[in-house]
Amino acid sequence: MHVRASCTFSSSLNELTSYLSFRIQLLESNQKIKTATISINMTTDSLTFQCALITGGGGGIGKALAAYLVSKGKKVLICGRTESNLQSSAKDTGAEGYYVLDTGKISAIPAFIARITAEHPELDCLINNAGVQRPLNVLHDPAADFLAKADEEIDINVRGPMHLALGLIPHFKTKENGATIINVSSVLGFCPFVIINPNYCATKAWLHFWSMSLRTQLKNGGTKTRVVEIAPPSVDTELHRDRENPRDNGKEFNPDALTVEEFMEDIAVKLERGDEMITAGIGEKLVRDWDQAFGAFYEKAAAADAEKQRERK
Ligand SMILES: NC(=O)c1ccc[n+]([C@@H]2O[C@H](COP(=O)([O-])OP(=O)(O)OC[C@H]3O[C@@H](n4cnc5c(N)ncnc54)[C@H](OP(=O)(O)O)[C@@H]3O)[C@@H](O)[C@H]2O)c1
Repeated sequence: MHVRASCTFSSSLNELTSYLSFRIQLLESNQKIKTATISINMTTDSLTFQCALITGGGGGIGKALAAYLVSKGKKVLICGRTESNLQSSAKDTGAEGYYVLDTGKISAIPAFIARITAEHPELDCLINNAGVQRPLNVLHDPAADFLAKADEEIDINVRGPMHLALGLIPHFKTKENGATIINVSSVLGFCPFVIINPNYCATKAWLHFWSMSLRTQLKNGGTKTRVVEIAPPSVDTELHRDRENPRDNGKEFNPDALTVEEFMEDIAVKLERGDEMITAGIGEKLVRDWDQAFGAFYEKAAAADAEKQRERK
């Protein structure tokens, strides 16, 4: 007996892998099957959302993401703390509108979500891009100073993305065609090799693991909300403004650094082909190494959870 299985994927390599191993198990369990053909058609554009909110869209990577998504025909809304930057970014990128919001001020998030979803009910994508980076040293910085800066960094890099996601998930669940959450982490969340940023690296490790668990729970729970993570390497933006040399993410000081244009060119391809874990430059090896060491272990746990969720239904 010959079996032919065919499927079209618009999603991730992970889904593709689980589908293949599911088919193989099925084939192995049926002794009568002698040969099998499995054909997979990967769709080319996974930017299935219509309207994206980009936090930190007033500059750097957020502004570049806004310009890119507008060029792909998406409606883009941006937010940030500095109105003048938001105004000029919206004008330069063609973003539809902007909101002044400090994503680290958690108490302001519920009212913001109520307002943006009332004004833009079509919103179906959240890009948690806003982030700050503080050089800190547990021995040299006075504890009160260290803690104030680290708490603010946690509010912006960790609590903001979590509260925005949880606040928007009920709205996203109403979207017939699904929704997307994109979290911008960092290669430093995979290995904290910049010793002057102990808290920043930890916030990005949090965002990496949070993205994995959030993706699995939303998927296994049967929602159509995808979670994508982008882990940038050094990209030439203003992020290092508090460092001794704020230009050290430029090519003149770091040959591994990417320009914003180089970075965007690379991640655009990966976003469009439906990758869920996206990086560039030196991030490729770090993410691949992590995946080789722990990826299968995690996938096994995620598959067991999926089975539990199916039984519960
Ligand atoms: N550039 C890199 O080398 C690099 C590497 C790895 C990861 N990343 C990550 O990429 C993301 C974007 O960073 P970037 O490089 O584009 O830095 P950036 O040039 O400093 O831009 C960050 C943007 O976020 C906004 N922002 C900061 N805190 C905010 C808050 N509390 N609420 C709302 N908006 C806020 C800033 O505007 P306002 O100050 O006006 O609010 C700014 O527009 C960050 O999450 C960063 O950690 C960057």
